[in-house]
Amino acid sequence: MRGEADAMAERTVWDLPTRLFHWALVLCLVASFLTVKLHEMRLHAWFGYTSLTLVLFRLVWGLVGSESARFVRFLRGPAAVANHLRGLFRRDPDREITHNALGGWAVVALLLLVLAQGTTGLFANDDIVFRGPLFPLVGKAWSDRFTTWHYRISDALLIMVAVHVAAVLAYRILFGRDLITPMLTGRKRLPGAVASPRLASPWLAFAIFAVAAGTVWAVVTRQLF
Ligand code: HEM
Ligand code: HEM
Repeated sequence: MRGEADAMAERTVWDLPTRLFHWALVLCLVASFLTVKLHEMRLHAWFGYTSLTLVLFRLVWGLVGSESARFVRFLRGPAAVANHLRGLFRRDPDREITHNALGGWAVVALLLLVLAQGTTGLFANDDIVFRGPLFPLVGKAWSDRFTTWHYRISDALLIMVAVHVAAVLAYRILFGRDLITPMLTGRKRLPGAVASPRLASPWLAFAIFAVAAGTVWAVVTRQLF
């Protein structure tokens, strides 16, 4: 028989800012890939700037935001990863109020790849008419190198996104853990003994987002250098 502590209860694990960040990033990245294929470079740049803003926001939110969004909370060592994998194959109930020990590292990889993708884009050119806003700082030869990296990183990003989506689906299909609903609604069913994460104010998120947008704007319009 199940004890009191094992009864399941709904908890809010993902705050609204983290969820909005996730789905906005998905939208911007899909749009970045589509616009470049259509040679809509101005739109490509705009979706790129927005992706950069989102990632800057998320890096700061990972330091001062809700408990479940914090890097210190979800970046764990190899022992925790091994423990997580054992629990998964034992089909233990999901007790995570943040990313699991494996997913946490994937999140960091995704964020760093998007940051690198956006940053190299600022210096890139398309050999025809479009130049990233920071092209004048480096000149054509270096811009071409940045463009090559922009291409390479976009391949790595595509692979990482494919792994990410495959992993999320595998958790659902193979291990019976639904991660998608919580990323949509914020809510997750957890064993009663698991404490809810402490959530930070959405106003703080809004302020951080505004500063991130201002920073990207200042870089892109070259107000800083
Ligand atoms: C361009 C494509 C995508 C990118 C760049 C991306 C990136 C990310 C990032 C950075 C996080 C961490 C969220 C945070 O802590 O702020 C995350 C989590 C998550 N993503 Fe995605 N994602 C993409 C597509 C998708 C898609 C299509 C799905 C749905 C099938 C999805 C489902 C999830 C879920 C469920 C989580 C939470 C995982 C957990 O509970 O640990 N993602 N994603
Ligand atoms: C972070 C989001 C971004 C993503 C996902 C992204 C993705 C891509 C992809 C997939 C390509 C084409 C690679 C190929 O054809 O194989 C590309 C090319 C390019 N991107 Fe981005 N990019 C981003 C941000 C930016 C930014 C912010 C700029 C500049 C403002 C930029 C400027 C360029 C340029 C100049 C090219 C070369 C186009 C060509 O050779 O025709 N990108 N990008």
